[in-house]
Amino acid sequence: MKVYCTNNYEAMSRKAAAVMAAQIIAKPDCLLGLATGSTPIGLYQDLIAGCKQGDLDFSRVTTVNLDEYAGLPGTHDQSYRYFMDHNLFDHVNIDIANTNVPNGTAADPAQECERYEALLRKLGPADIQLLGMGRNGHIGFNEPGDAFIAPTHVVELTASTIDANARFFASRDEVPKKALTMGVGAIMRARRVLVVVSGEDKAQAVRDAFAGPITPQVPASILQLHPDVVLVGDKAALAGLLETGVKL
Ligand code: GLP
Repeated sequence: MKVYCTNNYEAMSRKAAAVMAAQIIAKPDCLLGLATGSTPIGLYQDLIAGCKQGDLDFSRVTTVNLDEYAGLPGTHDQSYRYFMDHNLFDHVNIDIANTNVPNGTAADPAQECERYEALLRKLGPADIQLLGMGRNGHIGFNEPGDAFIAPTHVVELTASTIDANARFFASRDEVPKKALTMGVGAIMRARRVLVVVSGEDKAQAVRDAFAGPITPQVPASILQLHPDVVLVGDKAALAGLLETGVKL
């Protein structure tokens, strides 16, 4: 694992955007695994700037997103399809037909998970999979549980995740209770995993994930088994991990 510690959120975003940009330049028809949440927004802004300056070309890029809330259409401003369109896709020269997010309003969510998993298999492993982390160590919407779940699946969100994400909705009651998420299988198949973390409220989860036991109670801990993880975090988020003596 490579760990990069930055002074603040802006520097974290620039560093992580540079890792993504290098991938797009090295392989213009790459498959990018993308993530939502507040953490990657700055990274996406930097990629947009790179595209506008003519340094980055998304015309041959394909994307697969990690997850989507069950029940939210892509037009809902808290859906992850809406997030991706507004925070990245609408501002770069990507073909929207080459962007993939699970369909939160599919009549049969389990069947939609099967469709999405088949699509992931067909497209092949992501060249790079971007991940944020939940405060409870979740990745995508792979919540703490008794087992790691490999394929795309429907998940019941934990109370802690609903609480954390309530800030984006008018009230806690409006936060969907379920989601569709890529499992740890496709995440672990990615050739490279780029994890971005910011802020002290992630410090414990980061320490548990990368310096604690590998356990489904901390879903991100499975990344210890991945051969090519790049962790980019600001010093607040990495404080707990750095205490353990991890090498930068
Ligand atoms: C959601 C997403 C995750 C994301 C997490 C953290 O639960 N499903 O993919 O990593 O939020 O979000 P934030 O970056 O806002 O802390």
